[in-house]
Amino acid sequence: MTDLVDLRSDTVTRPTREMRAAMAAAEVGDDVYGEDPTVNALEERVAALFGHEAALFTPTGSMANQIALQLLVPPGEELLCDADAHIVTYEVGAAAAFGGISTRTWPAVGADIDVDAVAAMVRPEAGYHAVPTRAIAVEQTHNRAGGAVLPLPTLRGLRRVADAHGLALHCDGARIWNAHHADGVPLETYGRLFDTLSVCLSKGLGAPIGSLVVSSAERIARARVVRKRLGGGMRQVGVLAAAGDHALTHHLGRLPDDHARARRLAEALTPFGIVDAARVRTNIVALDLTKSTVDAPGLVAAARERGVLIGALGPRFARLLTHLDVDDAGIDRAIDVLTAILRG
Ligand SMILES: Cc1ncc(COP(=O)(O)O)c(C=O)c1O
Repeated sequence: MTDLVDLRSDTVTRPTREMRAAMAAAEVGDDVYGEDPTVNALEERVAALFGHEAALFTPTGSMANQIALQLLVPPGEELLCDADAHIVTYEVGAAAAFGGISTRTWPAVGADIDVDAVAAMVRPEAGYHAVPTRAIAVEQTHNRAGGAVLPLPTLRGLRRVADAHGLALHCDGARIWNAHHADGVPLETYGRLFDTLSVCLSKGLGAPIGSLVVSSAERIARARVVRKRLGGGMRQVGVLAAAGDHALTHHLGRLPDDHARARRLAEALTPFGIVDAARVRTNIVALDLTKSTVDAPGLVAAARERGVLIGALGPRFARLLTHLDVDDAGIDRAIDVLTAILRG
């Protein structure tokens, strides 16, 4: 598998030798008792990065999102989000199945959120006549929108809407690290805009596992209960937290390399009319194959035969992601392979 260029996702990375050494050396304890010093240190570090009081380590981003949503929205009440958001697309109905949460979506617009339109969706308390809106969720960066970065003024606008209506604001920040580099917005500035965030260590940062819910001390105390209820109470997971800590120290700063490689890939594919390189700002290149001679399964299969792995998210929608395990030579190869296929 080593000679394949794997652009299916930024989750396919393998821990580096140095990361494995950090994991092996981690001090551990039983985290369900709150006694794993490495987990505790990671939680404190990440909370501080986002200007919040506390954080909670979870095995996955999906669990971090769902814990946060359960904190913000009581059963039978409502969350607003984008129709293409990960939480309503790829978390297999968890908000409904586990939280009894009703979701209502605005049309998939990626980063181009119309704040007034979201405000108009908010349903006030109406006794037993309607579902009351309790929270708004956004995704930074937006996965299905090609890693689009939600601009700070938009997020501030949504914060104002939330405050005006007494709602909570959640960020699925699986790739907030990429947004931070792309727009130069401090993590703390993002953090302070949201009541809860989920942030992920196992995507661009290259850890094998791990996300965190970030919020107030009071909410994180409740989050610990929800995590346990979902079966996410873990034991000596300092070995995993050490990987995340290593990733923050050594891999956060290199994300601009991934962005530059994604841009180079997009520039090579722009002449085929399937992507606009000017819109590629982070590590995701989304290909719109509606007008192309090749569809997504066709492109995936042809590329795989030539050693390049890409993902199909729909019949005419494909996705390529750059990450820690793809270097410049890998990008050159992907460009050669994909342009040859697209030329037909
Ligand atoms: C935007 C976004 N949020 C959340 C997740 C969920 O992360 P996990 O796969 O760790 O559950 C993903 C996973 O790809 C994602 O892309």
